[in-house]
Amino acid sequence: MAIDNKMIEALHEVLAGMQGTVADNLSILGDVEKMWQPSDYLPDMTSEDWRERLQAFREPAESVSDELLIVLVGDMVTEEALPSYSVSLNRLARDKEGDSPKPWAKWLRGWTAEENRHGDLLNAYLRMTGRVDMRAVEVTVHHLLSSGFNTGSGDEPYSGLVYTSFQERATKISHRNVGRLVNAEGDHNLAKICLRIAGDESRHELFYTRMMNHVLDLDPQGGMLAIRGVIRGLIAMPGKLMYDGKDPDLFDHFAVVAQRTGVYTVRDYADILDHLVKVWHIADRIVTGKAALAQDYLCRQAELYHRMAERYEHRIAQEPRIGFSWIYDREV
Ligand SMILES: [Fe+2]
Ligand SMILES: [Fe+2]
Repeated sequence: MAIDNKMIEALHEVLAGMQGTVADNLSILGDVEKMWQPSDYLPDMTSEDWRERLQAFREPAESVSDELLIVLVGDMVTEEALPSYSVSLNRLARDKEGDSPKPWAKWLRGWTAEENRHGDLLNAYLRMTGRVDMRAVEVTVHHLLSSGFNTGSGDEPYSGLVYTSFQERATKISHRNVGRLVNAEGDHNLAKICLRIAGDESRHELFYTRMMNHVLDLDPQGGMLAIRGVIRGLIAMPGKLMYDGKDPDLFDHFAVVAQRTGVYTVRDYADILDHLVKVWHIADRIVTGKAALAQDYLCRQAELYHRMAERYEHRIAQEPRIGFSWIYDREV
């Protein structure tokens, strides 16, 4: 949807008018002093018995399957591209100084700081357990950060809220499922790590979903069009541009493994759409014209994806096994 600068400024005014609501919700961010840190989930390398601790950490990791390693690396690479997401979300915060005391800017910094632990912790886990080719993983992170991140919504700021509401829920589901599956495979350390990260995603989801609900209260027309704009573009996953220097379809191959293992599936995608349509009371909003068409469109999407899921699952089952540089070209 083409949207001119004057319209974009009008949307920014709505967001600027929400500073009080944002301030009231800053407590969704945890207290830094009480927050978990990656070190809490890793062997203490300064202790005298660090060798035993490291060994005890590495042993259960041996039982993690190649399938789940691929999903875990894909999730880690996606988390490690955080700088790109922070840059993108500055559309919402409009922090021109870098340390603005305004609530949107405070949220963005607090959120970034919390998210930063996710990539750090997963990175440390992968390095210490020695299960993957860290250099190949690092090349992938380097490529992804160099490629940048574009939600396809131009300068329009509401879509940042729509996108994050969707994405935080998607990452919560993904981390939670990896946690459940590696627990069954016997790595309880990794299970704890994944569940802890999923807990953060859940708080972040709460914030973004709440703020978008508020936008819909203040500007149902603009909000509805923004949601349609994001959903119609098929939520471009944040790791979409990942590349390891070898496989040009790396993200799609990773997504196939995520679907096959049940970590993140088309049904999850449909469920998220369904959930957002409900929590944002999309069907009950009073809108007219184009926004009414958008409303109608949004109410039909979850059902559509649910119907598509079966066909997709069938297709995925036929896909050949693919070698991944992350695990020394072993096929998954
Ligand atoms: Fe995260
Ligand atoms: Fe997140």
